[in-house]
Amino acid sequence: MTKSTPVRTEAAPLVVRTLAELRTLTAGWRRAGETSALIPTMGALHQGHLALVRVGQKHARRTVTSIFVNPTQFAPHEDFARYPRDEAGDVALLASVGCDAVWAPSVEEMYRPGAATRIIPKGAGLGLETDFRPHFFEGVATVCCKLFSQSEANFAIFGEKDYQQLCVVRQMVRDLDLPIEIVGMPTVREADGLAMSSRNRYLTPADRQTAVLIHKVIVEVAAKVKAGTSLDAATDEATATLAAAGFNTDYLAVREAQTLHPWQPGSSNPPRVLVAAWLGKTRLIDNV
Ligand code: PAF
Repeated sequence: MTKSTPVRTEAAPLVVRTLAELRTLTAGWRRAGETSALIPTMGALHQGHLALVRVGQKHARRTVTSIFVNPTQFAPHEDFARYPRDEAGDVALLASVGCDAVWAPSVEEMYRPGAATRIIPKGAGLGLETDFRPHFFEGVATVCCKLFSQSEANFAIFGEKDYQQLCVVRQMVRDLDLPIEIVGMPTVREADGLAMSSRNRYLTPADRQTAVLIHKVIVEVAAKVKAGTSLDAATDEATATLAAAGFNTDYLAVREAQTLHPWQPGSSNPPRVLVAAWLGKTRLIDNV
């Protein structure tokens, strides 16, 4: 009788906090001929993250979820200090989907004293988010490059909610020949359409009701553009609708889905509608 070794259980994932431990763990997986998928997160996990773990499990034998609130992608005035942190809750959620390991380094373990190297994305990283958060993609690209190298994972799974981030990461992997395959997954939404996000926890109950509008307006923009309405008319009207509901819009734009260059009607490249807007003290982003 052949004895099979179960690799996924509902046991708590192994939490590793040092690079040496992570390397030992993943080297063991590789020696056993097991592939792995990384799910990069900043914690405060929700069903959207768990869906990414499930996709990782479809691609690879082992999954490792990183939980690291990355200081280099926050500007001094942003929400690094108050970003929600709940490691015990996150680990319990990851156990419920059979994730194998959690990579949860301290800031000092991730950025050792004297660390001075940064990746500066251009291309898809120019404009949109960068116009409002100039530091952001430099921090994201640098930490993702480190996470890929630390985990030596075969796959990394990203949600499309952070669509520009996904484009930036794909471009970085291409440009730097990183030996990892990036898998993008459609946004997971609440029943009313709001994109799941760790930052939704900041919303007051009243703002939570209003927040759904951000998805509605970009769906409308997409429909109008498809029906031939001019880009300016469609986006101006949407921005006015958001403003009337109390949003302060950073950008609402129609771009080429692959390059994020401005999209022109009649183009053979599919368009993507992207938005970032403030509702009270919460910044929401979405795209369709
Ligand atoms: O999308 C996120 O949660 C973060 O930007 C990421 C990719 C984990 C990098 O810190």
